[in-house]
Amino acid sequence: MKLICALDDLNEVDCLEFVLFEKNTETKGFVVKVRNRIVAYKNQCPHAGVPLNWQENKFLDLVGSYIQCTLHGALFQIENGRCIWGPCKGQSLKPIATWVENNRLYHCETE
Ligand code: FES
Repeated sequence: MKLICALDDLNEVDCLEFVLFEKNTETKGFVVKVRNRIVAYKNQCPHAGVPLNWQENKFLDLVGSYIQCTLHGALFQIENGRCIWGPCKGQSLKPIATWVENNRLYHCETE
């Protein structure tokens, strides 16, 4: 298991990007905290395979209701990563399993 952050780190931000290793390749994931629930996804848009964000730790739309890809504006439901608007409508972000232990958030290694 790999540490993402201390839970207290999520008190200041809605989203937090972290490094992820997948098949021995470094990539990125991100965590979203909404109403005391935490979800995590790989930072890769299903439309063109690029990172979703242009700014560090900024993944939500202006009102904080959806995850938004900054390249073509696709909107994804926070709770399940499903695209509900945009060029990849019906596709989904890749979820990353996380769990909390001793007030710290971890994810599985995917190597
Ligand atoms: S790359 Fe994300 S909507 Fe096109």
